[in-house]
Amino acid sequence: MTEYLVTGGCGFIGSHLCEALLAQGDKVRILDDLSTGKLANKPRGAVLFRGDVADAALVREALSGVDGCFHLAAVASVERGNEDWLGTHRTNLTGAITVFEAARRARSDGRAVPVVYASSAAVYGDNPAVPLAETAATRPLSAYGADKLGCELHARVAAHVHGVPTVGLRFFNVFGPRQDPKSPYSGVISIFCDRLSAGQGIRIFGDGRQTRDFVYVADVVAALLAAMRRLPPESPVFNVCTGRSTSILDLAATIGALCGRAPQIDFAPPRAGEIRASLGDPARLAAALGVTAATSLRDGLAKTLGS
Ligand code: NAD
Ligand code: UD1
Repeated sequence: MTEYLVTGGCGFIGSHLCEALLAQGDKVRILDDLSTGKLANKPRGAVLFRGDVADAALVREALSGVDGCFHLAAVASVERGNEDWLGTHRTNLTGAITVFEAARRARSDGRAVPVVYASSAAVYGDNPAVPLAETAATRPLSAYGADKLGCELHARVAAHVHGVPTVGLRFFNVFGPRQDPKSPYSGVISIFCDRLSAGQGIRIFGDGRQTRDFVYVADVVAALLAAMRRLPPESPVFNVCTGRSTSILDLAATIGALCGRAPQIDFAPPRAGEIRASLGDPARLAAALGVTAATSLRDGLAKTLGS
């Protein structure tokens, strides 16, 4: 039986991944400090190592003997990275290096444990190319994006110097059931679904014409599983996106329509370090791993609202 460690497995994307692994008959360990994740998200059957992903001794213990690691633990909010630069760096980059380091010789046969890790569209920053292919220049605008780019650079070191197979997935804006709407740092779809379905108003930062490539969580899980199954060589990175862009204003209107009400919008100044237009090119992922993000925004929103 195959056994995996999922860091951040009590979070939004991680908990969906753990469920999928258990459903295909794998054993699952989770390392999570429950800072934004929840115990209620831990699927029955997964074993929790509660603690910090930058704690080298704990990570070594959690990784010992597993067949692969999905590294998802991070402070996922761009805004929180702006406010707590040094603190989020510890989790977002030191945490990743801690995982790569521990993966070097974590198997009983002395071989390295492969690591599939979450990068982000935030690495492209203010690169104006549309759509963004993986060959586009990386120009992060935020501490969060800079740390995700740092993860990619250290993943290359892990592979080339230490023999740790790595695959980086640059998720665009992921949404779906179980994304926590209750913090000011939450993803925009979770906040809009929560508030509009309750008949409350929403806030839009900036003019609402900024665009995002929203990808449904089940499609992201498919990409994670395929990356681990195939483990292409040379520590590659792949966009995980749909190739379709949506403005925040259109998003609000679509969710409003699904909830049967016109949204009441309060406009606020744009957030610092914000990307204006974010649209990914999904071609490399489709060609190399055979995964396309098939769920439409409307279907994904309906599933999110119905959950
Ligand atoms: P999430 O906040 O729901 O999940 C992150 C998990 O990591 C949580 O369970 C949290 O408790 C855990 N965690 C945070 N700091 C930790 C620490 N120091 N030690 C141990 N555990 C810690 O966020 P998510 O949306 O599920 O994001 C998962 C991954 O995907 C992150 O790496 C994030 O940067 C990346 N990502 C997310 C999106 C998105 O749109 N949601 C897009 C691009 C990349
Ligand atoms: C998101 C992810 C980040 C990921 C990145 C990849 C979250 C919390 N952040 O960042 O992990 O790496 O995508 O592209 O999932 N907005 C409003 N009103 C709100 C909330 C947000 O107008 O109430 C706007 C924001 O200003 C932004 C857009 O909606 O322009 C998206 O914001 P958000 O969901 O926080 O995501 P990103 O910052 O794009």
